[in-house]
This record gives sequence, C-alpha cells and structure tokens, in this order.
Amino acid sequence: MENSTEPRIDADKRPLLDAQNITVTFDIGKSHETLFAVHNSSLSINRGEIHGLVGESGSGKSTLARVICGLQPTVSGNVVFNGTVLGKHRTKKEKQAIQMVFQDPFASLDPRMTVRATIAEILRCHRIVERKDIDNRCRELMELVQLSPSFLNAHPNDMSGGQRQRVVIARALAVNPQLLIADEAVASLDVSVQAGIINLLIDLRDKYHVSILFIAHNLAVVRSICDRISVMYLGRIVEEASRDELYSNPVHPYTRKLLNAVPSIGGLPEKPNQNPSNPTITLPNGKQAIPETPNPTSPADTWIMQSLDSSHNHYVAATISQ
Ligand SMILES: Nc1ncnc2c1ncn2[C@@H]1O[C@H](COP(=O)(O)OP(=O)(O)OP(=O)(O)O)[C@@H](O)[C@H]1O
Ligand SMILES: [Mg+2]
Repeated sequence: MENSTEPRIDADKRPLLDAQNITVTFDIGKSHETLFAVHNSSLSINRGEIHGLVGESGSGKSTLARVICGLQPTVSGNVVFNGTVLGKHRTKKEKQAIQMVFQDPFASLDPRMTVRATIAEILRCHRIVERKDIDNRCRELMELVQLSPSFLNAHPNDMSGGQRQRVVIARALAVNPQLLIADEAVASLDVSVQAGIINLLIDLRDKYHVSILFIAHNLAVVRSICDRISVMYLGRIVEEASRDELYSNPVHPYTRKLLNAVPSIGGLPEKPNQNPSNPTITLPNGKQAIPETPNPTSPADTWIMQSLDSSHNHYVAATISQ
C-alpha cells in the first residue's frame, strides 16, 4: 500500500530534454584560435512539443543538435534526458531515444540498398522486433510515413526528394525514438513537398507523441509547425518563447532583425517599450534589463536568460542594467 506523504513527482511534467549550459569549441586556423560554436546555451524540450531552433548560418544550431544526439563532445554542460544526465558514452537505449534527420535525404541513404533492406538493417541491428516480424514492421513504418508499401522494393534513385525524406524519417522511427531532431530536413525540398513533410511531422507528434526539435532558417516554415522557438546567434540562445509570443512580441534585437527580414512575416507590431534606441525592458521583478547583441568574446556569465513574464513563457538573453 502506498502511504507516503511525499509529494508525487509527475515524471511527465519534466521536460523530455534539458540541454544545460552547453559549450562547444573548435580550434580553427593555423594559429589554433578558439571558436565558440556553442556558448553556454541551454535548450529544453517538453514532451509532445515541436520546438524550433532558428538562426543564421554558422550560429551553432547543428553543433547543438549534435551535442543533444551524443555525436559532439562538449567543453562543459549536461544533456539531461527523461531526468537522467547522459554520460559521454551513451547506452544503446539512450542512442535510440534521440534520432536525427538531416537536410539531404539522398546523402543519408545508400543508393545500392532497397528501402526494405535499409529499414530491415536497422530493425535487425537494434533487435527491435523478431526476425519473422521484420517485414511487417517495415510495412507499418511505411504506413507511418504515408508511403505505399510498394516503395519497399525501390532504390533511392527511383524516388523523389520528398519520398526519400519519408524513408529517412521511417528509418529514424524504426528504433522508436522519443525525440526526433529534424536539422533543415525540408530545406532541400520544393515548397509543395515541404508542406507534406511538415504535415507528416505534425502527425507523428499528434498521433505518436514524438517530440521534435525542428531546425530551420525559414521562419515562415518554423511558424507553421513549432509550439516553442529558440533563437540562436553566434553560439548563444538569445531568445526563447512560445510561437505566438515570439512572433507578436519579439524582444531581442537579433530576433527582431530576423523577423523583419522575412517579408511575409514583417510589419512587426510596435511595442511601447521596444524603442530601438532604448531597448531596455522591465522584468517582472521591476528590474531593468538590456537585451544584448552578443559579443563573442564576452564571458558566458554576463549572459543570463531573463524571464519576461511570471508564467515563464518568454526568455531573453540580457544583462541587468546598473
Ligand atoms: N568540425 C568543425 N570544425 C571547425 N569548426 C566547425 C566544425 N563544425 C562546425 N564548425 C563551426 O562552428 C560554427 C557553428 O556551425 P554549425 O554548423 O553548428 O552552424 P549552423 O547554425 O548549423 O549553420 P547552418 O545553418 O549553415 O547549418 C560555424 O562557425 C562552423 O564553421
Ligand atoms: Mg546546420
């Protein structure tokens, strides 16, 4: 019988993923200069959430994604998944739980293998189902990504870009991941094909509760799919908010610049406290803060994600003004 008076911790209320204070550096050039590809950045993804990560080329999005996937060593920081800190060497189960889908579906598939062979190989390697059930599971996975089972006999060359990307997604789903990272997964596809893949991702979240980290340059696409969005600039997360809040009330100068650069989204609402010449914001505790434009050489601890509202719906990187 359960007679504990301890408050019950509802495990489902914890974020699925919490990447905490991640820093990744690379030595570049002959003089071995240190590049902070990701600088003290945190990102948290709730269960069943589609979380967007946007920012210009080179801002560190893929590097952060690789850290989350366990493919990139860090200088500091932790990746916490389901409440457990993932170590340097992940278990098979931990590896299966986070899967990545990349931009170019053609490069991700072996042109010599049929779709069936590609998916069956993963099912066999990871011992997901018994040998006798592999063919059935291949068919189920094709159904999941809305492709006819007849494609199981096809080679990547016989398929369109969108169909190939569906196969790549099916292969990622074969190991039953809880988090799917789509790194520019629709960027190489035609606009009409992009919509199909985006609807598929939304379906996977709605029907199968797969959480998704959706990385993209295209802010219109991000707006159509994401629940929350983190904006990255020069290795730092500079703003994080729910989709509607971010698009209607962008605070960080970089976010505003990014949104203003998209004609279909432009025409940002005027905010009384968002005078560009005086970007100071008032925090819920009454303190004044300045959303900073990142300086790559500034020490990480001068960067604090400030919550802009008591419900913690909106964060911006800022320093408290004196
Ligand atoms: N293996 C590496 N060695 C050296 N520098 C690297 C390496 N990988 C990434 N970088 C650098 O780290 C920075 C961040 O790169 P990253 O690929 O994470 O950016 P990104 O935001 O994904 O860009 P894009 O939108 O073009 O994909 C860039 O300056 C990049 O040149
Ligand atoms: Mg990238």
